[in-house]
Amino acid sequence: MKKITEADRIRNLPRYLFAEIDRKKKELISRGVDIISLGIGDPDMPTPKFIIKRIQKALNNPANHRYPDYEGSPFLRKAVSKYYESRFGHKINPDTEVLITIGSKEAIFHLPYAFLNPNDYAIVPDPGYPVYGISTKMIGANVYRAPLLKENNFLIDIDKIPVNILRKTKIIFINYPNNPTGAIADDRFYRALVRTARKYGILIASDFAYSEVTFDGYRTPSMFDFDRDKMVSLEFHSLSKPFNMTGYRIGFVVSNSFVIDALKRLKTNMDSGAFTAIQEGAEEALLKGDKAIKTINDIYRRRRDLVAGALEKCHINFHYPRGTFYIWSEVPNGFTSISFVQKLMEETGVIVTPGNGFGEYGEGYFRISTTISDKRLKEAMQRIRNFLS
Ligand SMILES: Cc1ncc(COP(=O)(O)O)c(C=O)c1O
Repeated sequence: MKKITEADRIRNLPRYLFAEIDRKKKELISRGVDIISLGIGDPDMPTPKFIIKRIQKALNNPANHRYPDYEGSPFLRKAVSKYYESRFGHKINPDTEVLITIGSKEAIFHLPYAFLNPNDYAIVPDPGYPVYGISTKMIGANVYRAPLLKENNFLIDIDKIPVNILRKTKIIFINYPNNPTGAIADDRFYRALVRTARKYGILIASDFAYSEVTFDGYRTPSMFDFDRDKMVSLEFHSLSKPFNMTGYRIGFVVSNSFVIDALKRLKTNMDSGAFTAIQEGAEEALLKGDKAIKTINDIYRRRRDLVAGALEKCHINFHYPRGTFYIWSEVPNGFTSISFVQKLMEETGVIVTPGNGFGEYGEGYFRISTTISDKRLKEAMQRIRNFLS
């Protein structure tokens, strides 16, 4: 019998980082260990009630049981446009400059398919969300990993990227507020980025998954504050993190009509859009979500301070974040990222994410996600303190 073999692109694909951690977690649970996971960034709190109510009602409408509009329902695209106007002060054409997506991971994965040929480059942050680079490699294009270094406040140093790479680059992925470091970017960074992108014809793909998860009065600016005619940028939004909606799979992309049209052409051939009832929930969230965002962010701020206080007591260096629910921390002396995470998991049942899972420049770090109840978070931090003392 002739054996079935998978394609090279699948054989060479690394296991998704969290799938590997999940496997180890299951093994420990089967041994009866009380696991506390500070690993994956999946909000523990329920979706705000007003969003659920709208979706419940929408479920009863038979029109919503049919195929959705490929590019997203007009009512949600209009809501995105309104949200942009009130949140960022930018006018967005709901018909040509918005595309509704099945979460942002889907859209991020598909962008290289729409814009890269095999010899092109995408610049990706390292450490960074793994999907940018994996998708780029899957289509046979090249990845240039731009280091996010502590001494540069975890910002990509665009001036350090060699000109011969910039000439071959068609996409640069950025992500602020940043996963995994929790860093935010300043105006100087955005300006330099736009200058370079315009010079070399590079699309700035700004992953805005955490744009609304911010604290201490910080408000994330839009790429379009710096690229006012939307010539070289695109923003990936997600309802997942700000509204505790990771399970619903809903997000959107905003850019100029050329970029949106290319993505739309790809998408209409790949999937059939996001469930319309969920799109109704997203409309509710975007237009009436301010209070919910504040309530949720207050909880993450409190948890951040809880973790920060505990890490200080452990003499662990960390980046004090003004956005995201991650705390990027340095592993204690004598450990690598993996050895620390494994020993901590085995001896205490606490799971954190090894920094090198986000790229080679993540080595020496681990990431704490505060998407767990205060009570369990306190217990986890106490276990870490005991482990280190
Ligand atoms: C930086 C970043 N971008 C995008 C996503 C994808 O989010 P979703 O597909 O739920 O919108 C995540 C999820 O963890 C993320 O951390």
